Amino acid sequence: MTPEIHIVPEPVRLTPTGATFTLTPRSVIVAAGDAADAAQLLASYLRPATGYALPVLGTRPMDAPSIRLLIDPQVTLGEEGYRLVVAADGVTLRAANLTGLLRGVQTVRQLLPVEIFQSTVVSGIEWSLPGVEIKDYPRFPWRGAMLDCGRHFWTIDQVKRFIDLLALHKASRFHWHLTDDQGWRIEIKRYPKLTEIGAWRPETMVGHWSDEPRRYDGTRYGGFYTQDQIKEVVAFAEQRGITIVPEIEMPGHAQAAIAAYPELGNVETPLQPSREWGIIENVFNVEERTFQFLENVLLEVLDLFPSRYIHIGGDECPKTQWEASPRVQARMKELGIPDEHAMQSYFIRRMDQFLTKQGRILVGWDEILEGGLAENAVVMSWRGEEGGIEAARAGHDVVMTPTSHTYFDYYQADPAGEPLAIFGLTPLEKVYSYEPIPAEMTPEQAKHVLGSQGQHWTEYISTTDKLDYMAYPRLTALNEVLWSPRERGSYADFLTRLRTHLRRLDGLGVKYRPLS
Ligand code: ACM
Repeated sequence: MTPEIHIVPEPVRLTPTGATFTLTPRSVIVAAGDAADAAQLLASYLRPATGYALPVLGTRPMDAPSIRLLIDPQVTLGEEGYRLVVAADGVTLRAANLTGLLRGVQTVRQLLPVEIFQSTVVSGIEWSLPGVEIKDYPRFPWRGAMLDCGRHFWTIDQVKRFIDLLALHKASRFHWHLTDDQGWRIEIKRYPKLTEIGAWRPETMVGHWSDEPRRYDGTRYGGFYTQDQIKEVVAFAEQRGITIVPEIEMPGHAQAAIAAYPELGNVETPLQPSREWGIIENVFNVEERTFQFLENVLLEVLDLFPSRYIHIGGDECPKTQWEASPRVQARMKELGIPDEHAMQSYFIRRMDQFLTKQGRILVGWDEILEGGLAENAVVMSWRGEEGGIEAARAGHDVVMTPTSHTYFDYYQADPAGEPLAIFGLTPLEKVYSYEPIPAEMTPEQAKHVLGSQGQHWTEYISTTDKLDYMAYPRLTALNEVLWSPRERGSYADFLTRLRTHLRRLDGLGVKYRPLS
């Protein structure tokens, strides 16, 4: 009987051939040059459950059954495309570059019995792959997830696990939300107080933000990543073909930074990193030395993150302090800036010019449209799709991240039967129905849609189990939407493959939300 082939996300073209290839302790992985990096990753994925220490060799020995990985410029399937052939005498994976091979490696894993995902040796399994010919490439280049490490701190091991799960879903981006009102999480050598003070809040609210009276846990909370740890995570992601897009929030969501360096703020009152959730009025001022500070911070960030895209937040910046501040008002007058929205626009433009000069591209949440969009900015459209549509019309690239379909801190079923979430309702089927290109876009505008990602804001998520529950399988669904052709199979077909896929996640210890 041909075993069922349940690949997620669904490949562009998959043809079963009826053959079978069986992995044995004598099998070898053959790869030369850059392909060896993908081969090492594959070997590391196959080892725990099989117990086989498959060697990665530069050339093929005469008689050993092999998995061959080749960089082949003839495979013209874009940056991430690959071709995979499983025949009785061997497996051949080809791609034009390393990233394509890394995507194909994930398919090889999924062709094996689901037990391959277990972390310890599973005996009595025949480690066979069904014969197939696969041609595969993604629909969108930007696919992945954002993790908020400000509201709750995630250790580098937790972050790596999150990234490895993204890789399983052929994601390309990990958006690392590193700063917020409640915590500054990245070591900046020039400004040590950002982590000495900004990484630690005195306590944290308990229950939902809207609960009355408000309650707090009385426990100091925090953490941060050293630059060495960040480098380690960046390398880990790169080994899996994932680019990390760091986010440093400005001018709002800045209370932790202002607590560390009060001269960055607008008020005399001493601050601590926030113990509350919500939108907070303490925002950066607009002094020249504040811009200097932010540029110095970004210079260290750019040294750590090779990503072309750098996220500067830009969302939810209340203007009350700017309105009330004589210094901000005087500065606006000097600069000929008519109102606070234009001031925010000036702020983002400065950062856009700075990042452009550094050879990077600024990404911001859609509030950066207010008061006029900075010249080279990419817009992340979260308050619906209008911001993305407007930006694409103006010729800017956009990432579609509407709350309606991509906020995985929202409930996924009736709140009565669910753990505490922020609000909303985004069940799995709704995520799967998401179409990132709005109907009103022309084909020319649609080319500006880079893709999408799932948002994991963590006010109400503080453990790996809860993060798993909120993320999966919604991230599985979203990453299929982003990878597979628009004309992919039905939701029912997705569910059939998903049932197998959940057994893979079981093997990996992922505490996803069971299907209802
Ligand atoms: C956001 O959810 N404030 C981008």
